Amino acid sequence: MMYHKLRTCLASVKEKVDFRPEAALILGSGLGDYADEIDITDTIEYSEIEGFPVSTVKGHKGRFVFGYVEKTPVVVMQGRVHYYEGYPMPDVVLPTRLMGMLGAKKILLTNAAGGINDTFKPGDFMMITDHITTGIPSPLIGPNIEELGTRFPDMSEVYSNRLCNIIRQYAAECGIDMKEGVYVQFTGPNYETPAEVRLAKSWGGDAVGMSTACEAMAARHMGLEVCGISCITNLAAGLSKQELNHKEVQETADRVANSFKRLVTRIVVNM
Ligand code: HPA
Repeated sequence: MMYHKLRTCLASVKEKVDFRPEAALILGSGLGDYADEIDITDTIEYSEIEGFPVSTVKGHKGRFVFGYVEKTPVVVMQGRVHYYEGYPMPDVVLPTRLMGMLGAKKILLTNAAGGINDTFKPGDFMMITDHITTGIPSPLIGPNIEELGTRFPDMSEVYSNRLCNIIRQYAAECGIDMKEGVYVQFTGPNYETPAEVRLAKSWGGDAVGMSTACEAMAARHMGLEVCGISCITNLAAGLSKQELNHKEVQETADRVANSFKRLVTRIVVNM
């Protein structure tokens, strides 16, 4: 039973660290270096947590980092769990739920994504204003975990207007031309076909990726306040002549890492 598994993981983490985070942060592909900005008090490898799904992708470090961003106590997922690794959706969102159960009230989700919106270019940041999960199963399928939230949770404001305004404000202060848009999650691990990208565009999507929306849903289900930022690492398939590859994704993320770090700190401290 999923709630039991969550309790087991929670007990396993609490045995090793005594820390109550206010905010949670998930670091996407190529953005994991942000952990260097944190005044770290504890780390736990995912593999040390009993019952925890363990990540396999190269470049995705798999650990929780606990510590302070200025005075704010945070828990950070340096490396996430993806659906394409083969885990069932409830396992994919287990770490998100765990961070909520550890005490986090708000969560900032980050990722690398392909740009669909014509006005986006690689290296841009997009604040996620909403998402589309038609391409993936809901992480809330299965027996409802009553301890966390309701069977039929409202999703009319997944990404908190309050937090979106904070992101707008601090992006402007950091001199970042923050784009905004709708994130469309597909399963991966393959990149989309050009036809799938046109579909996502016709749905109203602005960026595509392989994560995040499922975590946002699980977080909303349990009442966390959610916000998200995509790093547009490439134009989505069919929108440029280039073939897509993970190296390009990493390189773009590396290129903007410094402004990303500055921005995330301002957001986390003020969210
Ligand atoms: N598609 C899906 N996921 C991604 C992409 C993309 O183009 N770029 C980075 N992650």
